[in-house]
Amino acid sequence: MRPVKGRHLYFMRTLLHLLQRTAKSQIQGFVFCFDPKKTRSLLDLLNILSHSRSRADVQTNTSWNAPIIWDGMFDPDVFDQGHKQDQSTVALTVFAVGRYLDAYLGTFLNSSEQYFMVGLPVTFYVFTDVPEKVPNMKLAPQRSLKVIKVERHSRWQDISMMRMKTISDVIESDIRHHSTYVFCFDVDQVFTGRFGSEALGESVALLHAHFYNLPKHRFTYDRNPKSKAYMETGDFYYHAAVFGGTWQSVKAMADACYQSIMEDKQNNVEALWHDESHLNKYLWLHKPSRVLSPEYCWDRSIGYQKDIRPFTK
Ligand code: GAL
Repeated sequence: MRPVKGRHLYFMRTLLHLLQRTAKSQIQGFVFCFDPKKTRSLLDLLNILSHSRSRADVQTNTSWNAPIIWDGMFDPDVFDQGHKQDQSTVALTVFAVGRYLDAYLGTFLNSSEQYFMVGLPVTFYVFTDVPEKVPNMKLAPQRSLKVIKVERHSRWQDISMMRMKTISDVIESDIRHHSTYVFCFDVDQVFTGRFGSEALGESVALLHAHFYNLPKHRFTYDRNPKSKAYMETGDFYYHAAVFGGTWQSVKAMADACYQSIMEDKQNNVEALWHDESHLNKYLWLHKPSRVLSPEYCWDRSIGYQKDIRPFTK
């Protein structure tokens, strides 16, 4: 089945804005339905309703009614238009510490400039121990890059866990004054196709490519009751290589994960998959409002999967 095309959704959006204006003055009881925040979630609902059957081969809704975004389910222009109208701005955080800078940062940044939130204002925040080695990038208008020096932990596990504190701090000191949304990425990845505004939402999590089609008992949650990340079961297995949301949500996520990580450290415990275990626990207790299919971070070593479209294109 074909997805509802952009014009319809755009029309509904315009209608909502009109209703918003008239409802405020005329229908007292409706006003709460049409404040800008609720309008956005109403748009999410429209997305679910209009697109949920467009990919019959995959799960397109969570049990709490958050959309799971797959290729072919959305019209990119509708989302881009909507976010341009809303003047959405995006911050991208990435950590390139030690050998990760030489090995990955250049490719990561070049590919993100080509594919990440094209057409929207984006600020890249690069955290590194050697700022002078960050490559000079030619960026499109309205896109900029900030380099922030961080301490180098000797274990990658600590670099990964401690980024939660750094992310929270930079949101507080900088991002919240400039950006509506924040996306946090691992540096060892390459964008090969659109990663656009359809991925923006209140809180956003990514289905891990290795687990999205496995039974829950195979998920690598932390099953040590001594860890704060402990969980027997959950909804999905999320990949910490990509997470995001509004700056408020990402800050709450990062703060909670950091707090649990530090409690574990005090108790001499380390969760199985470090910050990813804590993130999974958090997202089980605080359900994401938008879930990205594994197409958004596919691992080609898995091989052919018929439901992974960008892989088959
Ligand atoms: C691996 C991935 C790790 C971690 C793990 C979870 O495929 O490389 O970063 O996510 O899965 O089991």
